[in-house]
Amino acid sequence: MAKTVAQGLFSDPRIAEAKKLIQDALKDHKSHITGVKPANPELKESYDQLLKRVADYRGGALFYNYIGSGIGNGPLVELADGSVKYDFITGIGVHYMGHSHSGVINATIEGALQNTVMNGHLQQNTASAEVLELFSKAACKNGALVKNVFLTTSGAMANENAFKMILQKRAGASRFFAFEKCFAGRTLGMAWVTDKGAYRVGLPKTLDVDYIPFYCADDHEGSIKLAVNAMKKYIGRYPGHHAGFCMELIQGENGSWVGNKEYFEALIAVCKENNISVFVDEVQTFARTRELFTFQYFGLDKHVDVVSIGKNSQVCATFFTDDHKPKPGLMSQTFTGASSQISAAHYVVSEMLSGGYLGENGKIEKLHARFKSNLEKINKKHPEKLNGPYGIGAMVAMTCFKGDEAKTKAFTIKLFENGVLSFMAGGGNTTRVRFLMPVMVTEEKHIDEVCEIIERTLSAME
Ligand SMILES: Cc1ncc(COP(=O)(O)O)c(C=O)c1O
Repeated sequence: MAKTVAQGLFSDPRIAEAKKLIQDALKDHKSHITGVKPANPELKESYDQLLKRVADYRGGALFYNYIGSGIGNGPLVELADGSVKYDFITGIGVHYMGHSHSGVINATIEGALQNTVMNGHLQQNTASAEVLELFSKAACKNGALVKNVFLTTSGAMANENAFKMILQKRAGASRFFAFEKCFAGRTLGMAWVTDKGAYRVGLPKTLDVDYIPFYCADDHEGSIKLAVNAMKKYIGRYPGHHAGFCMELIQGENGSWVGNKEYFEALIAVCKENNISVFVDEVQTFARTRELFTFQYFGLDKHVDVVSIGKNSQVCATFFTDDHKPKPGLMSQTFTGASSQISAAHYVVSEMLSGGYLGENGKIEKLHARFKSNLEKINKKHPEKLNGPYGIGAMVAMTCFKGDEAKTKAFTIKLFENGVLSFMAGGGNTTRVRFLMPVMVTEEKHIDEVCEIIERTLSAME
């Protein structure tokens, strides 16, 4: 078969040799990262200056004093002060493969070898076609109809694109449903979907959203009734005005609150009766349950009209059915993603599908069971300091000091200083601490060590 010049370059033995040299060097250097380590005092002054520079030029200090050095080993990451920490938040659920992963670095080198830094909708390379096909087949494997995939550069943009195609399809209807306390991103549009007042202070209103109470496991029947009734009431108040329902099936930013199949099906039935598109926001949940997509975990395949993904997928995307196809002119973007990013996305998602992570006996379930049982033991010893755990799969959360926001913040910062990255979620007196572990590289022994540090940190706090 005829070959392109590019294929000649990518299969050149000198490239293979160069990649091997890089891998050898990487292996040597990352082998020095073996466990949690305090900062090197000799690097303190330069690190403090670095933090100040970042704070000065970005217009505010960072939540954690975190500036990575550029290397890590599995779930461990080295910071520029020489310290080493367990990364159990992974850039808020992005570094599924941990740090300095050889397969991912190989994939990004292959991407970096390509002719341009960025791909866009006007000019894409062959790797985009491969990613589109991989994503589409994975989404539709159980009969979902969301076979069309539009790549983009952030979760919020994937959601914006979803809202636009739904609004165009349902032209004339402009309201949306979403769950109370949901998170949808930081654009001007998504600021009016995310149910948090502080995130839209001073912003002009862009979307009308009616909020439905989220599932409550303690009151299964009651919460279904409450949510269905709320939907019907809004539909009665604004007949024909609802275009779509934006559903976060497990609420990530709110602290890993898990929904329920029957609950979702009841709400979807109301959507279908009223021509309301079902949009599932999987930006945070993608690859965190025992199914690649959480709509697959809840068995909602036949009902989804539009789905967004991001974070773990490395490149973001909006999936949609044929009848939600936008008309020409509605959507395009200069950037779909960097060549190295698209290459990494293909590697990471292929791994997720074939590497033993999914399924009832997959790695995600095993890691969850270990984390859950360790946290339950800590809860038994310190019931006044830790409650939970909550969540499913690789979305694990807990409550510290009965959900007190200020104490939880103090705990996450102490935990960081002691060597574990986590993050706050929710707020007020239901604040939680959440973990989004790097599934590909986490072993049970890492979870044990992280839990020891959690217990030690809690014990030292009043
Ligand atoms: C459910 C959900 N939707 C959308 C977003 C926005 O994604 P991004 O920060 O990539 O714009 C997030 C980010 O945390 C999210 O959790």
